[in-house]
Amino acid sequence: MMEEIPEREARAFDTDDGRTIFITQRDGAFFAYNNVCPHLQTELEFLENQFLDRDGEYIECSTHGALFNVESGECISGPCLGESLEKVEITVHSDGGIYLT
Ligand code: FES
Repeated sequence: MMEEIPEREARAFDTDDGRTIFITQRDGAFFAYNNVCPHLQTELEFLENQFLDRDGEYIECSTHGALFNVESGECISGPCLGESLEKVEITVHSDGGIYLT
């Protein structure tokens, strides 16, 4: 997975086993989650690669506006308060590539 993911932006990817995940960068670190809202199991984004709120501060579900902490995936506002996105383990190689582990 050799993709550019700018700071405070996110990109969606399809995995080999048929899931959709997204990866976002925050303060130089990368965080990946399954693209499934814990509220109604819907995909989060309304527009392509639009996973963050307007300020780029939180991950946002476009369906009912739930907000999630970027680093932990925990829902901090909205109907799934206290639940979490499902984290996907990734490694970032020194060549800049991001790989599922
Ligand atoms: S489906 Fe995500 S907040 Fe309701």
